[in-house]
Parts: sequence; C-alpha cells; structure tokens
Amino acid sequence: MGLMAVDQTQLLSKMATGNGHGEASPYFDGWKAYDENPFHPTQNPNGVIQMGLAENQLTVDLVEDWILGNPEASICTPEGINDFRAIANFQDYHGLPEFRNAVAKFMARTRGNRVTFDPDRVVMSGGATGAHEVTAFCLADPGDAFLVPIPYYPGFDRDLRWRTGVQLVPVMCEGSNDFKLTREALEDAYEKAKEDNIRVKGLLITNPSNPLGTIMDRKTLRTVVSFINEKRIHLVCDEIYSATVFSQPSFVSIAEILEEETDIECDRNLIHIVYSLSKDMGFPGFRVGIIYSYNDAVVHCARKMSSFGLVSTQTQYLLASMLSDDEFVEKFLAESAKRLAQRYRVFTGGLANVGIKCLQSNAGLFVWMDLRHLLKKPTFESEMELWRVIIHEVKINVSPGSSFHCTEPGWFRVCHANMDDMAVQVALQRIRAFVLQNKEVMVSRNKPCWHSSKLRLSLGPRRFDDIMMSPHSPIPQSPLSYKDTLIPE
Ligand SMILES: Cc1ncc(COP(=O)(O)O)c(C=O)c1O
Repeated sequence: MGLMAVDQTQLLSKMATGNGHGEASPYFDGWKAYDENPFHPTQNPNGVIQMGLAENQLTVDLVEDWILGNPEASICTPEGINDFRAIANFQDYHGLPEFRNAVAKFMARTRGNRVTFDPDRVVMSGGATGAHEVTAFCLADPGDAFLVPIPYYPGFDRDLRWRTGVQLVPVMCEGSNDFKLTREALEDAYEKAKEDNIRVKGLLITNPSNPLGTIMDRKTLRTVVSFINEKRIHLVCDEIYSATVFSQPSFVSIAEILEEETDIECDRNLIHIVYSLSKDMGFPGFRVGIIYSYNDAVVHCARKMSSFGLVSTQTQYLLASMLSDDEFVEKFLAESAKRLAQRYRVFTGGLANVGIKCLQSNAGLFVWMDLRHLLKKPTFESEMELWRVIIHEVKINVSPGSSFHCTEPGWFRVCHANMDDMAVQVALQRIRAFVLQNKEVMVSRNKPCWHSSKLRLSLGPRRFDDIMMSPHSPIPQSPLSYKDTLIPE
C-alpha cells in the first residue's frame, strides 16, 4: 500500500485546517529547530540549546523528595491503593473538595497570605491554556475583542482566538517606558477598536509578565481597574507566574487591589483570575489550570464548560496532599525564589560581561534580552535575520520579540530555568563567542555582520554527563501542514 498526499481542506473543517493554532510563527519554528537537533552534553554537544521554553525545572528535586516521602499520595502505589477505587471513580466536575481547598490556600500563600480565596470559586481546566479559552467563551462572542498589552505570550493568539472567534487588540507598550502599561495606551487601543467597529469585551493582562519578567505595580493595577470599570468591560488577569517573583518589589495580585484599595470603584463581577501550576510549581505536564472568577455566573458557566478539560482525579488527589503540606510549600517557595534569583544573576551577569543588556526584571523564567545593537537595521527583517543566525549558527533557540507582537525590533526572550547550571554555561560560552566574533567583524566593517559559522561550540574539558535537559517541546515532532499529510493510498 503506497502513500498519497491529499488536500485535507476537503475532508476536514475550516477550523481544523485553518491557521488558528498560530504554529506558523518563529516562536514555534524555534522549537522545531531544537527538536530536529537537540543539544545533549555528550551525545550531541553541538546541538541546539532550548531556551525558548518557559519551564521551571530548578526545584524538581524538592518535589521528587516529597513524592518519595509520601507514597500514599500517588494512589497507584501499595501505600495508596486503598484510595484507588474512590478516586478513579470520582468524576464530578466541581473537582475534589480537598483539591479546591488546597489550591485556594496555595493561591493565597503565593500572594503572601495577604488575601484569601474561596474554594467554591475555584474552577479547574486543562492548564492556563484551557482556562483562557473557557474564560473567553464565557465572556465574549465571536468577533468581540480583548485588549492585550504588547508584548504578550504568543499562545494567547491560539488560546483566546482560535476556537472562540474572539479577536485580540494590541495595547502599545514601549521600550522607552520599560514596556509599562499606561492609561493613554489603553484609551488609544479602546478608541481604535471602536473606530473599527469592534466590540471590546475585556482587557487581558499578564502579571508577572511573559515575556518581560516584570511585575505590575499597584498604581498601574489601580489604573487598570479604574479603566475597565469605567468602560464596563471585563478584566482577565493571568497570574500564572506569581510565585516566580524572586526579588523585590513583591508581587501584587489583582485580588489585593480588590480587597485593599477600597477607594477605587470596582464591580467585582468584572474580575477574573487565570492561574495554573505549570510555572510556579513546574508542573506543565499535569495540566492544572484554574479560573478564579468573582462573578457567580462566570463560575457556574466555566464549571460546566470545564467538562472538556478536567484535571485527572489522580493529579487532583496528589496535589491536594502536596499543597496542604505547609512545611513543604514554605520550603518549596523559598527555595524556588532563591534558585531563580541565582539563575537570573548568573545569566544576566554572563550576558552583561559581553555587553548584552536585559530589561531589569524580578520574576518569570526568562529574560527580555536587548540585541538592538546587533541588528543590521532597526527592522523586523533584520531581527529575523539575526534570529536565524542565533538558531542555526549559535545554536540557541531564543524567541524573537516579533513573535510576542513587540513593535520595537531587536528584543528576544531567553528562557533560563529549564536547564541546569552547566547548560547555562555552555549557552553563555556560545553567546560570548558569537559576540566577540561579531565585534571583530564590526570593527573591520563598521556594522554588525554575523560571521558565526566558524563558531566553536565545543564544551571544553568539563564533564556534562549530568546536565539536566529540557524534554521535547510541547508541540508534536515536526508538525506537518495539512498539505503534507500522507494517507495510505
Ligand atoms: C502567560 C502564560 N499564560 C498561559 C500559559 C499556558 O500555561 P499552561 O501550561 O498552564 O497551559 C503560558 C505558558 O507559557 C504563559 O506563559
């Protein structure tokens, strides 16, 4: 039986064959480059280092220790087998009460216990990805829009738009102002949408920010709350990086603004938090997403919709136990912040040594690296040209600012928490070699001209046997476009 290429557009739905997933972006292309040639310290030392994936692997050892010490929490163990039947049979979409209690408590803890969360408002979903989609389904109709400050996480184009038909309208944030969100920018975006006959239903903010790694200060959050209240639109706050804040100033949740800043008018029915354990705990594979809405109708509707993306009860059971262990949670959060701070210091310090600056930040699993001085011209074409050199010759997968809808060419997001110290050193060594080589060429030609093909990517004399590697990217290996799909003849 042979294989024949077919045009799947005739067989599948428009949604299935359209580009709504947003995979045609350098953000995902970088992952593919890594998948095709992944770095391994001994087996593939010249491979691509994955620095395009915001994963938190710095504290996995603490979780592993807890799991070993609490075998009954994983019900498929001799110690946990007594609870197996009840848990495996449980299918209520409200979730296990002990899971919701533990999540509500954890959310309060990651906000310094300055606020409390009601377990009855905790709705689960398949990661923050699912939480965003469910929230968009609840709040907007096809064609309606959410305002989103740029630069923003590229997955939003898929999560909020693809299946819901919702649009995203950018809110300009500029490098000259450290990409801070302003009232003027919000007004401009809102007015522009109105001129284009687009109905704005909400504003989506990410705090702490991906890709910037910065947090929103209280004043900005107050501005945001006043704005959405005046316009009578919803506010969705993605707070999935709340426990990745590793130095001062501390994180301020929208929940704190609601509870503490009582002098500003705010209809709580308009406020919704999206949370997840993918970043703060480093569990993206568990697919634990949370919608926490202050609006009863949204809670009820989201809960019904969550039927399409529930968290497995085995995972709920395990996490209920883990997150209720106060001693573990305290130690985990403190250690996580310490390790993230250390990684940030080492990585940004290494970049600074070769004259590369990053936006000052204190959260997240990445830095927002400024390579504007390495662009041949201040254009997105030049940014892509430089990005291709970084991927294919420096062999590091970083994500260009354009994939985050940044309007200023030359910024790149670099993730640093999905690898161990040795891998970071290899990455820094490669960047150093690239910059130095580039400098020589710049001196002779007086402009950036990336002669990196002769870069030495060797690892030097150190042992790298135990370098922690990022697993495969969360997209399938070499995704095929529908035109290339092969079916048996
Ligand atoms: C801001 C933001 N929101 C949502 C997500 C999706 O998270 P999850 O893995 O929980 O679906 C990500 C993942 O990188 C993200 O950075």
